[in-house]
Amino acid sequence: MNDILGDWKRSHYCGQVTAEDIGNEVCLMGWVQRRRDHGGLIFIDLRDRDGFVQLALDPDRDPEAHAKAEKVRGEYVVAIKGKVSPRPEGTVNPKMKTGEVEVEVSELRILNTAKTPPFMLDEFTDVAENLRLKHRYLDLRRSSVQENLILRYKVTRTVRNYLDANGFLDIETPILTKSTPEGARDYLVPSRVNPGTFFALPQSPQLFKQLLMVSGFDRYAQITKCFRDEDLRADRQPEFTQIDCEMSFVDRDDVIAIMEGMIAQVFKETKGIEITLPMQRMTYDEALNRFGVDNPDLRFDLELTDISDLVEECGFKVFADAVSGGGVVKGLNAMGCASFSRKDMDDLTDFVKIYGAKGLAYVKVTDEGWQSPIGKFFTDDEKAAINQALEAEVGDLLMFGADATGIVNESLGRLRGHLGQKLGLAAKDDYRFVWITDFPLLEWDGDTRRHLAVHHPFTAPMDEDVALLDSDPGKARAKAYDLVLNGSEIGGGSIRIHDQAVQSRMFGLLGIGEEEAREKFGFLLDALEYGAPPHGGIAFGLDRLTMILTGADSIRDVIAFPKTQKATCLMSEAPGEVDTTQLRDLHIRLAAKPKP
Ligand code: AMO
Ligand code: AMP
Repeated sequence: MNDILGDWKRSHYCGQVTAEDIGNEVCLMGWVQRRRDHGGLIFIDLRDRDGFVQLALDPDRDPEAHAKAEKVRGEYVVAIKGKVSPRPEGTVNPKMKTGEVEVEVSELRILNTAKTPPFMLDEFTDVAENLRLKHRYLDLRRSSVQENLILRYKVTRTVRNYLDANGFLDIETPILTKSTPEGARDYLVPSRVNPGTFFALPQSPQLFKQLLMVSGFDRYAQITKCFRDEDLRADRQPEFTQIDCEMSFVDRDDVIAIMEGMIAQVFKETKGIEITLPMQRMTYDEALNRFGVDNPDLRFDLELTDISDLVEECGFKVFADAVSGGGVVKGLNAMGCASFSRKDMDDLTDFVKIYGAKGLAYVKVTDEGWQSPIGKFFTDDEKAAINQALEAEVGDLLMFGADATGIVNESLGRLRGHLGQKLGLAAKDDYRFVWITDFPLLEWDGDTRRHLAVHHPFTAPMDEDVALLDSDPGKARAKAYDLVLNGSEIGGGSIRIHDQAVQSRMFGLLGIGEEEAREKFGFLLDALEYGAPPHGGIAFGLDRLTMILTGADSIRDVIAFPKTQKATCLMSEAPGEVDTTQLRDLHIRLAAKPKP
């Protein structure tokens, strides 16, 4: 290595060479993005992590360097020395940071050759993601992906500085541990020295951070990996990173205040955007009523309107039956969308069916009144009342869902988000935050016929709802809060139960028997008996936050080495099979024999 570089020391990153350097000698090292031959003259775009600069090689001026440049191909690694000069008139590229200059190369060294990459490493070619992920180390040379990772680093740097300034201690918690329930399946790791037993990778550091509060650390924070074996989506990865925080002697408003300050600081330092504090808050009930979901995108209106009162006695059986059966009828007004085609409506109907809706009734508001498959079932008065409730005007498209409340909210809420995207109502550079508060503590799971914790089993009930734990637990609200940004849940947390008796009661409500609670969380229950302070915290999804800051469409675009939707790594081909000796060491015999 030393031989090849000799005494050459890089003087600049490529992207740093500007008009101010004109006349100066520079030494640059990087990758060849492109070589162009112009009748003797050779131009090379040299690239490093900071950007590009144009190199010019003139056979008359520096024949030796020019001869070497003739051998150079794309992605060769080269080092050059040369003089910065202004580009000739007419060749200035105002779109490039270094577009006013070029480097007249006097010496060139080929540091390494490269095979032709399997895809173009520029920003213009559309490359299949599987190919990109298989050669991720090449994909990561592209400036857009590099910029994402650099911004991600700036987020964590800002977060660390902010948390440090606010007295948080960074303490590591185990990766080989016991199951920490956050609602997903665990990734398990077999123990060799303890036959037949398994570690679980943490779904979050939840239990350990609570124990750190019991120990008196008072303010803890960690940027750490979490592992969840769940169905993957555009904003979910099996291993992802949390900005995980916990504080003692605080209530909800203390946690919210300090954490929204952190997020505002991140926006200021990474995007130069001032976020107005305090951020908006909304109760869970309000979010569901108005937007159908607990992660509303507040960049646009398109609110749901409950018209149950107006249709409970109407002639359209689907609506009347939904109301008499204890459900609801809600509508939303897609203003100006009366021109949607039959095909559009079929697509939207298919869309709501994903969320359990049985159909999507709709009305096009025209000069001549309602144009609708269900128009004939309504009186003029009913039509007028519905028009008024939805503030309908000529040219609008009204859509309705009639069913159990949960189905109507979910399907129309998702439809609202879908339409917001489709109609371009959600600007990428608009950032709308909202804290969702007053979540229910429990939800009923029809499959297992028992309550599940909406957040997790360690979340405290609201003080005024503690009595409900005995009388009507489903109605109890939690001291839980989520931070939602542009329709994405970027963080969630709660004030915790710090009283052993309440925690045991909570396990009881969740159908976790005393023995099971002991076996799974005995150490937490014990710890709560040794002077646990009131405490609470939150965790932010770093990947999701970075996705929004970068405008990336996929969570994979903000992770250096992500997994596919099928939870595999195409590059390293993990997960992979292991040989039988390794399995024997782990006391594991496979039910399905691996293929030879
Ligand atoms: P929660 O489960 O809500 O809370 O997770 C916190 C945040 O982590 C992000 N997140 C994910 N990001 C990418 N891929 C995933 N599979 C994934 N799952 C979650 C989300 C989410 O808001 N221990 C609690 C926090 C607490 O109570 O303090 C917890 O883990 O942005
Ligand atoms: P039908 O009477 O089943 O032909 O439905 C008439 C219209 O109502 C169609 O546009 C259906 O998509 C719609 N529809 C049917 N069931 C529901 C429902 N539960 N909620 C909303 N619209 C529905």
